Amino acid sequence: MNDQAPCPCTRSCLGGIERTLPKHGQEDVDKMVNSLSSLETYNYNQYHPIGEIYQWMSQISEKYKDVVTQHFLGMTYEARPMYYLKISQPSSQPKKMIWMDCGIHAREWIAPAFCQWFVKEILQNYKDSSRISRLLRHLDLYVLPVLNIDGYVYTWTTDRLWRKSRSPHNNGTCFGTDLNRNFDASWCSIGASKNCQDLTFCGTGPVSEPETRAVSRFIESQKEHILCFLTMHSYGQLILTPYGYTGNKSSNYEELIKVGQKAANALKAKHGTNYRVGSSIDVLYASSGSSRDWARDIGIPFSYTFELRDNGTHGFLLPEDQIQPTCEETMEAVFSVLDDVHDNYWSSNSVGKVSSTPVALGLLLFLISLF
Ligand code: ARG
Ligand code: ZN
Repeated sequence: MNDQAPCPCTRSCLGGIERTLPKHGQEDVDKMVNSLSSLETYNYNQYHPIGEIYQWMSQISEKYKDVVTQHFLGMTYEARPMYYLKISQPSSQPKKMIWMDCGIHAREWIAPAFCQWFVKEILQNYKDSSRISRLLRHLDLYVLPVLNIDGYVYTWTTDRLWRKSRSPHNNGTCFGTDLNRNFDASWCSIGASKNCQDLTFCGTGPVSEPETRAVSRFIESQKEHILCFLTMHSYGQLILTPYGYTGNKSSNYEELIKVGQKAANALKAKHGTNYRVGSSIDVLYASSGSSRDWARDIGIPFSYTFELRDNGTHGFLLPEDQIQPTCEETMEAVFSVLDDVHDNYWSSNSVGKVSSTPVALGLLLFLISLF
């Protein structure tokens, strides 16, 4: 077990420093107790090691305890706890759920940075922003800031460009499953590998990994209530719809594209960044076992992968001075999607009308009764 002090150059070591991985996730949690940094000075324009993200999660749920709560989702392979944040305004109305996860691929550091930015923006502004309060009247937000925690830790300690999880395979001869090839959506049929040495190793079976099991179990148990599933990656500047495993289009493909294109336009209006929108197989490459495809297949109507900045200049090593503009423009896109998802469901002239019919009928009867 490692009892060294945390590596002194955590912000700049991109592979030089090696230390043994902690056996127990509790260590990461404990680090926050020792560290004295406060939420007020948390720097959203920096990338943070997992100990600081754990600390941030507990501080933010303490400070905003009326609206945000922290929940245990499961354990990673290396026994680190996975927590999601639930942002929810008390309401007498029945609500729907929005899911967002970040950091399923370890090296895509801008993704966890965005999840934190997203939570911060919502919490700092929900009281004054009519746009946010309107969303929160009908929607609860579920945010998993780092899905692949073991991999993320490994990118800080050992290999900045690690992508997969850290479970051992072939008697410990190779490590890591591509968690975004491990979901139960045409598992390992295309754009994924059964060789554990490969970057897109799909695991030993559908949902063979503790991280994907934790997410799948939760999403499956809530699927009736989830309107929108967003999974944040980098890089490529893309908004991707299902599917990656087939050229067939999902039943609401046209609407997914329309909502996605509107989001890309809103994003571009912020800093001029160009995004492309399309199905994963058309716009990026074939892939099976992705969480986005699986979420759509179990009936979640709006399911997207975001590939954030950039276009390959820095790739996964997006400089910290681009965190802010990237997060600002991505907020615009995500708000655009959430507005559309909200209106699609909660206005009586579209798909959501099935559920709002009783409400509309009640209103009609009430109006009639006035005459
Ligand atoms: N996040 C992407 C993935 O899930 C990586 C895309 C980077 N490559 C690229 N050509 N844009 O595989
Ligand atoms: Zn990725």
